[in-house]
Amino acid sequence: MNFELTEEQIAVRDAARNFAQNILKPGVIERDNNQKVAHEELKQLGELGFMGMMVDPAYGGGGMDTISYALAIEEISKVDASVSVCLSVNNSLVCYGIDKFGTDEQKQKYLVPLATGEKIGAFCLSEPEAGSDATSQRTTAIDMGDHYLLNGTKNWITNGSTASIYLVIAQTDVAAGHKGINVLIVERGMEGFIVGAKEDKMGIRGSDTHTLMFNDVKVPKENRIGEDGFGFKFAMKTLSGGRIGIAAQALGIAGGAYELALAYSKERKAFGKEISQHQAIAFKLADMATEIEAARLLVMKAANDKDTGKNYDQSGAMAKLYASKVAMEQTTEAVQIHGGYGFVKEYHVERLMRDAKITQIYEGTSEVQKIVISRGILA
Ligand code: CAA
Repeated sequence: MNFELTEEQIAVRDAARNFAQNILKPGVIERDNNQKVAHEELKQLGELGFMGMMVDPAYGGGGMDTISYALAIEEISKVDASVSVCLSVNNSLVCYGIDKFGTDEQKQKYLVPLATGEKIGAFCLSEPEAGSDATSQRTTAIDMGDHYLLNGTKNWITNGSTASIYLVIAQTDVAAGHKGINVLIVERGMEGFIVGAKEDKMGIRGSDTHTLMFNDVKVPKENRIGEDGFGFKFAMKTLSGGRIGIAAQALGIAGGAYELALAYSKERKAFGKEISQHQAIAFKLADMATEIEAARLLVMKAANDKDTGKNYDQSGAMAKLYASKVAMEQTTEAVQIHGGYGFVKEYHVERLMRDAKITQIYEGTSEVQKIVISRGILA
């Protein structure tokens, strides 16, 4: 067993940390307050190669491993989870899905601009009545010969208005159930495709989450990924890797709050000494460090499973389940260590606490992760 990072992995982690601390941090409170997407910073991240980290270099990607990707997401999430979710969706759902299952034509046309950060992608599975129960898709893609006629509504779509390339999951053959679902590449600007209302969220307020409407959108047949009926399996396989990204995001949110709490505890004095010298705080820090390290081991194990060709459905679900729980609990502790200062925006930990919650909800709730894990155990 090797717990050491390679030189390349360390370089990626340090580059992401540097970008997060120096470029993202100065504007993060303002973006959160005003629900502003970090468009300029995302463009820079694309130029630095963070948008298609694991994509084949032949298609404009970085050809990196999942461990490097998780390290980058972790470092960026310590500062700005709104930026990291955009990266996560683009890298591990949209780019991965096209890279792994798309045709060469689809890769040339869509993957290259996504991997280079020229365009941003969105993954459209959730619907008003199909969240955890993802097989119950109401959006329809009727086979019209040379194209599909797409109709329906998608909810909670990350990068909803920032994206210009959308992977849309839709039902073609209702009678076939999940075997009648397809995934289509839809472009911004196709007639009948409307980007609807933006959600006003508790956390990740600098990421744009929208409802999308499709009214008789004609999607060319060549935009279907995989065989007819592959859409549900595509979603499940893609989400398994996406969950490693969200686990890394949760880990970063927890780690960011821990780093702030540790620094604060060494500065703030009470009862004649730094609060870190009081056992009540020192024990909190000890628990935080231990929980975060445990989450890190699960995230790295899942990433390593993916990199070494092992099945990562279970390890990814375990990493996401545990890291998101750690994020929620340890950001709350970080606020507690900060006392009243923790409750005001200037100190960053209240935002991290609000951001933590979504990691227990998107890309499968904690309950969905338990379904995946328990089925694996009981199979
Ligand atoms: N890989 C390959 N195939 C898989 C699979 C996987 N990981 N998981 C399931 N499948 C296959 C099954 O083998 C089965 O196929 P067969 O019938 O041929 O055997 C088929 O898919 C149906 O599987 P299940 O019977 O297990 O399906 P289910 O209805 O019981 O649901 C579930 C299982 C795990 C709950 C699934 O519905 C699920 O993951 N739901 C959550 C969806 C989700 O994560 N949504 C998040 C939206 S995306 C998002 O949040 C992105 C963002 O913007 C941040």
